[in-house]
Amino acid sequence: MIESIVVGTDGSPAATVAVSWAVDDAGRRRLPVRIVHVVEHWPYGISAFPPPGWQEAMTHAGEQVIAEAAKTAAGRRPDVDATTALIGGTPLEILREQASEATELVIGSRGLGGFTEALLGSAVLRLAGHVPGAVVVVKAEESERRGEVGEVLVGVDGSPAGEPAVGFAFEQARLRGCPLRALRAWQVPPHAFMPDIVDVAGIRQEQQQMIDSWLAPWVERFPEVRVVPEVTCANPASVLTEASAQADLLVVGSRGLGAVGSMVLGSVSRGVLPHARCPVAVVRS
Ligand SMILES: Nc1ncnc2c1ncn2[C@@H]1O[C@H](COP(=O)(O)OP(=O)(O)OP(=O)(O)O)[C@@H](O)[C@H]1O
Ligand SMILES: [Mg+2]
Repeated sequence: MIESIVVGTDGSPAATVAVSWAVDDAGRRRLPVRIVHVVEHWPYGISAFPPPGWQEAMTHAGEQVIAEAAKTAAGRRPDVDATTALIGGTPLEILREQASEATELVIGSRGLGGFTEALLGSAVLRLAGHVPGAVVVVKAEESERRGEVGEVLVGVDGSPAGEPAVGFAFEQARLRGCPLRALRAWQVPPHAFMPDIVDVAGIRQEQQQMIDSWLAPWVERFPEVRVVPEVTCANPASVLTEASAQADLLVVGSRGLGAVGSMVLGSVSRGVLPHARCPVAVVRS
């Protein structure tokens, strides 16, 4: 695998912000970035042929999308080595293919697709956790943020599946020269008639010791990163979403401790993606 960043754009507002995010990250990591636009084939199986001139018109429109994205990238980070690719096919398949060769895939949370109420485009949950590297999902609203907050946030559960995400988060905090907030959320199993017998303070103390020991090897590897460990008794997706308002990047693993092994993407990652208030990096377990 060649170290590189791939960003997919369909010319939508979210994808355009994703292009900016990708070149910023490429600058931080000193990696090249490849801007990809997929020209979709005639989508209807009902007719043996698309209208005359369809493919030419789509290709011409695609060239404009790529030219705009290249302009965005060069305007933002002229120092970054950014190349473009216009590829015919199915966006999901092509992006998967392109991401399998890259360190990181950056996409918008939405595209130009028709269902305007949707918080996530259909490509997002099919790419996050499905490709080898990290998938960073950026929302259009990110462009309204003025400057950086100065914090990376990572959700930790101590599972081996979450380790690559913790490593990714430490690296991002190091590159940005900012603190890393490591959040561990735990919950008492919910039950309608549960008597109040749980020693919350005791569990909190034990959880605090656990998070310190999970992070210890990473702290040793990244001595320059200031880590702020935090333990909260609440639903992990809820607290991470809330905390994301105060972060520049939220990092989660694609899987955690959950028992449903058949799911590619765990419930916390699924939960935070639509609602997070900053870009989310899903790092494959
Ligand atoms: N044709 C494409 N070429 C390159 N990247 C794309 C293309 N289509 C979508 N993407 C990437 O995927 C992101 C999410 O778009 P997606 O297509 O999933 O959402 P949508 O268009 O809102 O909904 P849907 O297409 O599922 O109806 C985009 O912001 C962009 O980064
Ligand atoms: Mg789409």
